[in-house]
Amino acid sequence: MQVAANPIAERISSISVSSTLKVAQDAEKLRSEGVDVVDFGAGEPDFPTPDNIKQAAIRALEQNFTKYTPAGGTAELKKAICERHTQDFGTDYKPSECLVTVGGKHVIFNLTQALINPGDEVIIPVPYWVTYKDVVNYAGGKCVFVDTDESAGFVVSAAMIEKHITPRTKLVIINSPSNPSGAVMDRGEFEKIFHLTSQRGIYLMTDECYCKFLYDSEPWSVASLPGAKETVLVAGSLSKTYAMTGWRIGFGLVPQSVVGAMTKLQSHSTSNPTSISQKAAVEALRGPQDSVAAMLAEYRKRRDFVVKRLREIPGVKCAEPRGAFYVYPNISVVLGKNGIADTLKFSERLLADVQVAVVPGEAFGTNEHVRISYATSMHELERGLDRIHQFIAKNA
Ligand SMILES: Cc1ncc(COP(=O)(O)O)c(C=O)c1O
Repeated sequence: MQVAANPIAERISSISVSSTLKVAQDAEKLRSEGVDVVDFGAGEPDFPTPDNIKQAAIRALEQNFTKYTPAGGTAELKKAICERHTQDFGTDYKPSECLVTVGGKHVIFNLTQALINPGDEVIIPVPYWVTYKDVVNYAGGKCVFVDTDESAGFVVSAAMIEKHITPRTKLVIINSPSNPSGAVMDRGEFEKIFHLTSQRGIYLMTDECYCKFLYDSEPWSVASLPGAKETVLVAGSLSKTYAMTGWRIGFGLVPQSVVGAMTKLQSHSTSNPTSISQKAAVEALRGPQDSVAAMLAEYRKRRDFVVKRLREIPGVKCAEPRGAFYVYPNISVVLGKNGIADTLKFSERLLADVQVAVVPGEAFGTNEHVRISYATSMHELERGLDRIHQFIAKNA
């Protein structure tokens, strides 16, 4: 059999392997060899999915709710998503403005594929969640990165965004709270960004993946502003809020025409999100919400502990995260020393020398930081931070 000269399509070369997944794979490999690894790489809650949600899935199975559903999700789930968003943020989305997807990543993929033409510019604040860059590139768009200031907690301002707007700007992406920095947008500034974009007919995507995990402010959505529904695109996910990463349920709240375009695309790729997960998601959204507050309380304790421990390491700077479950310390004190050329090398050496997995900042567009996820037990955090302290002290 003859193999084609270029077997892989060119568009695949516009994307790279998700570095967060790579760290997980490297750590998993070591673990399978019996090595005691402390894993701060995984961006997923260590809590189990709440029982009422699991029971709803069991009921779905027992009632044979195991067949195709409409491609964009069941009417019941779309209604539950709209109602929860109304209850939480005071928005007034209708099911016709909602699409259920196979996780939050899928809604962002479908959105960018549905909206971006080759050459369209997409403004992305740095540090950014890895996937934005790749899905924009895959759609043929051009990423326009906006650097933020570490000493100001990595928050982006409307003035910073405005400087990067051109006639080709199609979309601005805001992720608050942010993965990887935990930065939270100031509400007034977010409003300004909305006005800036809506006046120019530019879409504003708000990635609300971590919207419930805020330490010193109340959950709020830019989609609740008057007139927001025309240009604001909500990308939502149940993965982190309800500890449901494996169930793969995300959603979009977007203009009806965009729902149509995304549904068309989805109908030819995944078809519908898993029927059983959709039933579980209805329960997550309509059932008791106390598990979310319990998780937040635990994350807050861990955040305080991790920030304190990192700041105790000589030379390490650590901005205080105001949301999500990540910290993004500056480890430049060891860069350029003992062969640790960059944060990728730092992460490799940290894993090899003291068996702690973190994600290098290069993955998020900065070159002096690493991302630590504290969605793991206090015991693991203590062990891991002891090791990080020892590693940095030895190499600084
Ligand atoms: C900022 C952000 N958005 C969206 C997602 C998507 O989550 P999922 O596809 O697991 O629902 C993630 C997951 O890590 C994330 O960090």
